[in-house]
Amino acid sequence: MTTRISVSLSWDDAFDADETRSMMRQIGADQIACLQGPGPALTDVLNTIDDDRIELVGWSSHDGPVPLSWLRRVAGQWVRHHEDVPVVVHAGVVRPGQELSDEWRTVTGEEAPLHSPAWQDFPTFRHHLFTCRGPRCNAAGAADLHARLQEKLAQSHALDTDVLITVTGCMYPCNSAPLIVVWPDGRCIQLTEDNLDRVAAELAGPSRQ
Ligand code: FES
Repeated sequence: MTTRISVSLSWDDAFDADETRSMMRQIGADQIACLQGPGPALTDVLNTIDDDRIELVGWSSHDGPVPLSWLRRVAGQWVRHHEDVPVVVHAGVVRPGQELSDEWRTVTGEEAPLHSPAWQDFPTFRHHLFTCRGPRCNAAGAADLHARLQEKLAQSHALDTDVLITVTGCMYPCNSAPLIVVWPDGRCIQLTEDNLDRVAAELAGPSRQ
């Protein structure tokens, strides 16, 4: 028996329940997993499978680059401890409406590891931004506002260099929903349509504008 797993590749995809169900049907998958973000982690799902062959299909609903190579690396880490189970990865990222190809790559266990000396320390970002996706913030439009803030920071080339974003659950000052908190100063900001551009510009810094 073969188990086919549809694996969401990006953080945003993992948050999208409708797209996750739709892609599972499109891919003809038996199970779902996510490479990153909320939902069942790929390694945890692999640990539950007792079949002769496992097929992994990475998908994303976004046009931009997504970390398909990390799907192979995570699978490779698992295969190193489960050498008796053949695992293959679909050769390309599957997007909505796209059929699977006949190209599959075998996961050998020789894939690059999940550790590197380069990932030992925090990068030297100026702001660590916590974006709340708790119930009150979600109800106040956090998903859309946070996505647009992230997009603006990416356009300013500040994302992950000057500003590191971490998505959180409730941080408790819910009356300020939708909330973001900027560290190291610990400032709470209620993100709105009116201040979105100003907050993005401030976080990116004058050198980025
Ligand atoms: S739900 Fe966001 S601070 Fe409570």
